[in-house]
Amino acid sequence: MYFPAYRPRRLRRTKTIRDLVSETRLSADEFIYPMFAAPGKGVREEVPSMPGIYKQSIDNIVREAREAGALGVKSVLLFGIPEHKDETGSEGYADDGIIQKTIRELRKKTPDLLVVTDVCMCEYTSHGHCGIIRGGDVDNDETLEYLAKMAVSHAEAGADIIAPSDMMDGRVGVIREALDDAGFEKVPIMSYSAKYASGFYGPFRDAAESPPRFGDRRSYQMDPPNVREALREIALDIEEGADIVMVKPALSYLDVISAAREEFDHPLAAYNVSGEYSMVKAAGRLGWIDEKLVMMEILTSIKRAGADIIITYHAKEAAEVLRGRGK
Ligand code: PBG
Repeated sequence: MYFPAYRPRRLRRTKTIRDLVSETRLSADEFIYPMFAAPGKGVREEVPSMPGIYKQSIDNIVREAREAGALGVKSVLLFGIPEHKDETGSEGYADDGIIQKTIRELRKKTPDLLVVTDVCMCEYTSHGHCGIIRGGDVDNDETLEYLAKMAVSHAEAGADIIAPSDMMDGRVGVIREALDDAGFEKVPIMSYSAKYASGFYGPFRDAAESPPRFGDRRSYQMDPPNVREALREIALDIEEGADIVMVKPALSYLDVISAAREEFDHPLAAYNVSGEYSMVKAAGRLGWIDEKLVMMEILTSIKRAGADIIITYHAKEAAEVLRGRGK
């Protein structure tokens, strides 16, 4: 027989050929950059476990959001670190809360930026759980009212997309109804539909100062071994009116992203979470991996698995690489 008629290496010969036949392409358009808003002025404090990521006051959030925009990253996801925490996380839905003030300022100073807000109580509660505590556990139905209030207050401040991350049952429906009743029927919901109880959130909890003071989040976040359950969660959120659904974390859950892509037509987001970022940064600093190469490979794998939208702390750096300036 004639020696291989088909030689796969022909299409790998030069970068131009490889680019021509590339099956997966990344673009900064699909990145969302998470940011942490803190009280004060002139504050810019690096998160020790997340090099390059800062807790910062509103003036600096605006500055960095502009910088991200200039690199082609058009969307941010905001988290708030409140001045004061209490049992019901009241700063989370206060009109003059840290997030509400940040949204207003971004609206004014960066009108083209897409502002997505995380709706969850854990950053605002003194016990660090994602809802109201009754009898040692988070009370689902009581929490829903608070989440709805928080979502409406974000929309009132000018949020473009509301992203509930609490994992209470029924929250998408309740938030949708509250938004509609308040006249925000045009504001989409991006639901953290399949959010797992993950060790990869560790660095985020340092940043947001939100580790639970007792117990863990396993009574509301999903159990890592389950994938069929993730599809049920996503189906429920879609029924309740979610516009975009999400799988979180991304890297250990690529199979979940892929299964969700197969089953649903809705836009699908994946959250490349804090621990995934920190591992790349740490190994990069030690000189054990080529950080940029690994970053792009990870983001490509998330896209290849089926995500349309990638929420990532690497957004700015990856956008630079995509523009050919980062490397
Ligand atoms: C709030 C929330 C968390 C993250 C996003 N929203 C933390 C948690 O559930 O403990 C994690 C993000 C990350 O690790 O980058 N509930």
